[in-house]
Amino acid sequence: MKSTPAKAVKVRSASGDYVVLCQRGILERAEREIARLGRFSSIHILTSPKVWKALGKEIRRGMPEGFAKHVHQFDDAEEAKNLQTVEKISRALVRTGADRKALLVAVGGGVVGDVVGFAAASYLRGVQLVQVPTTLVAQVDSAVGGKTGVNLPEGKNLVGAFYPPRLVLVDPKALGTLPDREFRSGLAEVIKYGVIADPKLFAFLESGMDAILRRDARALEHVIRRSIEIKARVVGKDERESGLREILNFGHTFGHALESATRYRRFQHGEAVAWGMMCAGLLGHEVTGTPADAVSRIVTLVRRIGPLPEWPETSAKRLLQAMHADKKTREGKLRFVLAPRIGEAETFDDVPEKKVECILRCAPQFFARPLKALGKCDA
Ligand code: GLY
Repeated sequence: MKSTPAKAVKVRSASGDYVVLCQRGILERAEREIARLGRFSSIHILTSPKVWKALGKEIRRGMPEGFAKHVHQFDDAEEAKNLQTVEKISRALVRTGADRKALLVAVGGGVVGDVVGFAAASYLRGVQLVQVPTTLVAQVDSAVGGKTGVNLPEGKNLVGAFYPPRLVLVDPKALGTLPDREFRSGLAEVIKYGVIADPKLFAFLESGMDAILRRDARALEHVIRRSIEIKARVVGKDERESGLREILNFGHTFGHALESATRYRRFQHGEAVAWGMMCAGLLGHEVTGTPADAVSRIVTLVRRIGPLPEWPETSAKRLLQAMHADKKTREGKLRFVLAPRIGEAETFDDVPEKKVECILRCAPQFFARPLKALGKCDA
């Protein structure tokens, strides 16, 4: 199928604007796009063994001629997203002669992008970076916006930097080998963009979900590109998350509590966000008067991305405690992004905890049955 031409989505950043190029097959022309960035002393591709096995040949072919090229592979499991891996990467860079004019190319999912991004921010106090996200969640979310970082034993993403790349290359074709569960989990973030910013995207997802689940090239490219445009617009206005950027956390206050209560073992991030968006939809109904019909559409669409791991056997009180431990909490107040209607979102920090607790208590039964009418939470 003929794909549409690569459209550059510009991302504004205090450290220098950059573009995201999204097109099927763009990796074959990576060479041209990277060469446009200027001269580098060497190019270092940082990736995981799994990703390199699936895409290495193609990526090597697309890399500029005439540069010393090095491929460094490291474990991209969530458990390896730590300072030890940053040290390993940095030492490999020293051993292979990376100087201040070196370029790092992060090829992989969210963990690769975050860890390599942080290594790029700190190695020699900053070397240039190109992001090549190869999972859906990385393409539509983590590779855009400059957030980089690693986990500590005390919590996720506690050490990091805002470090925008020079370029992001998004090739929807790279998703061809992505396991179904990861793909569906990434779709949760796509739905999020529809809910928070774009009723048309939301409606497209409603009518096109079957095609998207079949990974129809045209439908997929459309929703990826639209998601990137929305993310670019939001982070361009609020790079450092002092206000507007928070809306990207729709579903995440609930989602992070579920992930943390299950020690990050039960849910993929998008799956926890999927549960979280249904809960946030309902909380929006309770707090901001989100129409029942809109909540019902959110829940119905989320359910279509597939079965989610079960809600944990954890008390509502414990989940509430996990929410309080989240780094989004400010001065002890929980913060929720709620959508008064589809396509609009804002942050609330004065939500009655009783209502949240009630939703946490009712969610597993509530969302497991057909939504005919929305009753009020008994709080
Ligand atoms: N993933 C949310 C953000 O980039 O701010």
